[in-house]
Amino acid sequence: MRIRVLGSSAGGGFPQWNCNCPNCDGLRRGTVVAHARTQSSIAVSANEVDWLLVNASPDILSQIRDTPELQPARTVRDSGIAAVLLMDAQIDHVTGLLMLRERSSPLPLLATPEVLSDLGQGFPLTRILSHYCGVAPHALPTDGRSFTVPGLDGIEIQTVALSSKPPPYSPFRDKPRPGDNIGLVLQNPANGARVFYAPGLGEVTPELLQLMAGCAVVLVDGTFWSGDEMQRLGLSPKAALDMGHLPQSGQGGMLEQLARLPVATRKVLIHINNTNPILIEDSAERAELTRRGIEVARDGMDIRF
Ligand code: MLT
Ligand code: MN
Ligand code: ZN
Repeated sequence: MRIRVLGSSAGGGFPQWNCNCPNCDGLRRGTVVAHARTQSSIAVSANEVDWLLVNASPDILSQIRDTPELQPARTVRDSGIAAVLLMDAQIDHVTGLLMLRERSSPLPLLATPEVLSDLGQGFPLTRILSHYCGVAPHALPTDGRSFTVPGLDGIEIQTVALSSKPPPYSPFRDKPRPGDNIGLVLQNPANGARVFYAPGLGEVTPELLQLMAGCAVVLVDGTFWSGDEMQRLGLSPKAALDMGHLPQSGQGGMLEQLARLPVATRKVLIHINNTNPILIEDSAERAELTRRGIEVARDGMDIRF
């Protein structure tokens, strides 16, 4: 089983088009040691021909161009992307759906009823797409039952309702529902190995920690290093937790949570905001991660399990 990280950055990408924070400015000028990153998405495959796209980033077209594996070219119009699964309805996770409109059949779209409702109303992508290829919606089970996606044999999936937030445009922004934001457990039925994936994670409960401890790899929210990162740079009045993202540093932060997992668990941060100092490869914060055995996802990274 293979996961290809298509985009490892949070909304805006790195560098962000209008951002002159020390990271974005430094990357443009070539004065920092760092790599550009596109917006949040992964692809998963058991046979490396048929892929489940998890989240559809605004950068999807360049991500597909950079990943020839996604284009097996079996017929004159063809894609290895067999279905799309959405973990929330955030702009950086769904806007790429519009770029898939040239399909000749409805796009199989797996999401919770909460996400499907935001995408039919607040940000009516599925209504817009109905005038192009259309979507074939499948409501994701949220009762812990594992399921498989038609056409993607060999991947078993389980969803986990997470504490985070629906997008700013959602009528439920300040009244989050279970289902607004999910994590995934991807299991390889051939060897039982599991990966936990949660690019947006506001709280690690004891139950979630236990689930993560049973996974070979955890690929989790790396958005912010500190809770007040955006505020200190004068970029937003909001704290990380107000945006549904648990920061890495500080009491109860992601580093503390990951330290509770077995040493053998591979720990990878993903969905990294352009302000985060861990993007700078010779920063003290990055050294701290290395000391703790925590990796930082890159675009094009492969995870096999
Ligand atoms: C988030 O996860 O909070 C998003 O990246 C915000 C955004 O899309 O701007
Ligand atoms: Mn995001
Ligand atoms: Zn920036």
